[in-house]
Amino acid sequence: MKILLVGSGGREHAIAWKLAQNSKVEKIYCAPGNGGTALEDKCENVKISGNENLLQFAKENNIDLTVVGPENPLCEGIVDLFKESNLKIFGPDKKAAMLEGSKSFSKDFMKKYGVKTAEYGVFSNKEEAIKYVENCEIPVVIKADGLAAGKGVVICESKEEAISTLEDFMSKDIFKGAGQRVVIEEFLEGVEASILSITDGKVVLPFVSSKDHKQIFDGNKGANTGGMGTIAPNPYCTEEVLKAFEADIMKPTLKGIQEEDMDFKGIIFFGLMICKKGVYLLEYNVRMGDPETEVVLPLMESDFLELIEAAIEENLSSKEVKFKNASACCIIAASKGYPGSYEVGFEITGTETATGKVFSAGTELKEGKLLTKGGRVLGVTSIGESLEEARNCAYKNIESIDFEGIYYRKDIGEIK
Ligand code: AMP
Ligand code: GLY
Repeated sequence: MKILLVGSGGREHAIAWKLAQNSKVEKIYCAPGNGGTALEDKCENVKISGNENLLQFAKENNIDLTVVGPENPLCEGIVDLFKESNLKIFGPDKKAAMLEGSKSFSKDFMKKYGVKTAEYGVFSNKEEAIKYVENCEIPVVIKADGLAAGKGVVICESKEEAISTLEDFMSKDIFKGAGQRVVIEEFLEGVEASILSITDGKVVLPFVSSKDHKQIFDGNKGANTGGMGTIAPNPYCTEEVLKAFEADIMKPTLKGIQEEDMDFKGIIFFGLMICKKGVYLLEYNVRMGDPETEVVLPLMESDFLELIEAAIEENLSSKEVKFKNASACCIIAASKGYPGSYEVGFEITGTETATGKVFSAGTELKEGKLLTKGGRVLGVTSIGESLEEARNCAYKNIESIDFEGIYYRKDIGEIK
């Protein structure tokens, strides 16, 4: 079997590594992949991007299955495009991808189907948005409607900040269209959890829970990033929380997908806020999380390819997803300066000798050397019987890795 895997992050390296474990898989083309996928068993990087070019590649190379990592190709309709040519692809269609691609669409969907979420208003007119904010409690959360590479959410601590955020989004248009419409939302206080799951549109099978660490500095300080580290399972996801999630979030979501006639055979990622007053849905993503994937897949005992094939055949109800009875911790090593500007092209050493698994993100292989190429460079994942063992192991393992300006948080998985 030949697979085309779209994307270039640590998430895609982890997906490639997991899929390669199935003996049916002969080859995984990673488009465009990274320095880690270049070295991974059965993998080959191919420099192609753009949905039309990917389609052409899939046709010319007799690809049996395409798996899409990031949200952009999904929101641009790659699944619809491949299906028109009768090619097998795993992911939601363009309409279902709007659950991530448009925050107002997803909030209206949550409200319509009774999914528990924060109170909100949607505005395309700045004066009306300002009027609404005048009557909101502070802090208030302002979100750009469209995709803004994780930068479109601002938690405003004063009315002045809220008004200047609306100016930035709606008048200065800092997100080039994505902030012309905004969602203004009630601030929820609590702890966050990520629950990735797989669906065939008939059932949703949740994966082990996980927890991201979004801010750049220890103690959750500083700017938001794509994610500086993850642990799984999430210690805050107790039986009680998971029950509330299933009843108040997962089940009504599935009902909505069915009633709206969405073609959703893919991953749904529920971004949760666990509050005193209950479990709330902050957002949907329609793909695996990064770096959540780097802890969820190493704990997965089930064959991921079999699950993907069952989802495409609408046969997930016959499957169970099994996870190791253990904990995982992934620490992201970033380039100095990230999430602001940073330099690239430094040699990375120690990845071959590190124990645990090293997932590459912003790296490239050049003349046999692994070089830094992005902000988040790589992630080191370790597994242990307990969270403490997993995190101690991951911290020990990352010590053997080096590149100029290496930076990582020292408190991933520290639960206070
Ligand atoms: P989102 O893209 O909607 O998940 O928002 C990004 C991040 O902003 C979340 O992971 C939270 O940390 C924070 N956030 C979003 N919505 C809220 C909210 N209603 N209350 C508190 N924090 C929020
Ligand atoms: N780690 C958060 C995300 O993938 O959106």
